[in-house]
Amino acid sequence: MPRRHYVCRDCGATAPRWMGQCPVCGAWDSLEETVEQPPARAAAPAMTSGEKKPLPLREVSGKDVMRWDMKDQELNRVLGGGLVKGSLVLFGGAPGIGKSTLLLQMALQTPGRKILYVAGEESPRQVRMRAERLKGKIRDGIFIINRTDIEGILAACHESKPDILIVDSLHTLSSQLVDSPPGSISQLKAVTHQLMQAARDLEMATIIVGHVTKEGQVAGPRLVEHMVDVVLYLEGDRQMGFRLLRAVKNRFGAVSEIGVYVMTGRGLRPVEDPASYFLTERESGVVGVAWGVTIEGIRPLMLEVQALVSPSYYQIPQRATTGYDPKRLQMLLAVLEKRVHRPIGGQDVFLNITGGFRIKDTALDLAVVMALASAHADVPLPPRAVFIGEVGLTGELRSVPSLEMRVEEAQRHGAAPIIVPAAATRTDDPHIRPFRNVRDVVSEWIG
Ligand code: TYD
Ligand code: MG
Repeated sequence: MPRRHYVCRDCGATAPRWMGQCPVCGAWDSLEETVEQPPARAAAPAMTSGEKKPLPLREVSGKDVMRWDMKDQELNRVLGGGLVKGSLVLFGGAPGIGKSTLLLQMALQTPGRKILYVAGEESPRQVRMRAERLKGKIRDGIFIINRTDIEGILAACHESKPDILIVDSLHTLSSQLVDSPPGSISQLKAVTHQLMQAARDLEMATIIVGHVTKEGQVAGPRLVEHMVDVVLYLEGDRQMGFRLLRAVKNRFGAVSEIGVYVMTGRGLRPVEDPASYFLTERESGVVGVAWGVTIEGIRPLMLEVQALVSPSYYQIPQRATTGYDPKRLQMLLAVLEKRVHRPIGGQDVFLNITGGFRIKDTALDLAVVMALASAHADVPLPPRAVFIGEVGLTGELRSVPSLEMRVEEAQRHGAAPIIVPAAATRTDDPHIRPFRNVRDVVSEWIG
């Protein structure tokens, strides 16, 4: 008898009966009826090879995994040093963010590897046109198939034995073994399971594309995350050009790495030195701009904070932020008002983190306060100054994690002065200026 249960589309939790709200993650209307068919597994094509026999652990090869250079520094880094042979990678991201672009581009530039690209969403002609736009010349060894039945796709893999299989996307595929529509939870799981088997048996690195909406609404990658070796997410703002590639799970490397790209007319271009893009070259005299250093993964990034403070024509002054938590802004405004005695409360305040980033890092507090104070007083900050530090409710400057790494990043970009929390610093570099209180920083540079 097939077993019926309900699975949450957001978090994958199961429940024995339908409920309006997921008992685990709290999402509303996210439970979907799922029928598990135990005999179906047995009907799967027998793909077990001799290797499945128990092996004495001493005889198992202890050599490092084999990795392929993807000819893309950012991608290699996030993968932990290249794509691992036979690994299963889930590549998630919002629709239109650039997943297909990045994978096709990877296929085009990886020399000597046989690649099978399963286009479930686009016709081979569309893919070809995109490939031409990306690269112009198309190398041998890239094959494209426009199918959505997993059995047919795997048959093609057994026949042509590609080094790398790209499946674009998971939601379009379906398996005969499961009697529900493509994109449903049981299909996603069945298809991923079959791809996992094939990746192991054929030693074929397999990359599966999965769409997630910002709200995580669609039955998505999160459900199959635990089945794969590596989970990558491509994030960013579709309007802004920047994209961050992030590993959230990696059996072969660190999960803290990120890669930075910019979307251009000819695909995603790796950005080796993000700061040169995120910072606007400014002459002295620009008000309301301050630099800070945040950490994305384990990578320090110089960022620019822009603030505009203007007289309000509303009863309740406006506060608008891009890429920054409005509550944190409220708190920093209150500190500026009460502890630094800047009467900013009655004014409209706009705050912007450039580059399309969404920042939660409190080490950017000081840069935010300084951009606000500069905009409010109409006094520019020194053009190469960098402000690092968390601001407490009493106006004290608190130390931040990875301060050294942040300072080094600032130095690498020729920043001076670099303002840091006093508590954490001992240094003889005259450009590094430790402070205890945000009031002193404001009076030093704003007056
Ligand atoms: P796409 O890779 O199709 O997104 P996904 O597979 O994640 O859904 O990228 C779609 C967007 O990228 C689309 O709006 C057009 C844009 N784009 C460029 O700006 N430049 C390019 O060279 C390409 C190929 C796409
Ligand atoms: Mg796509």
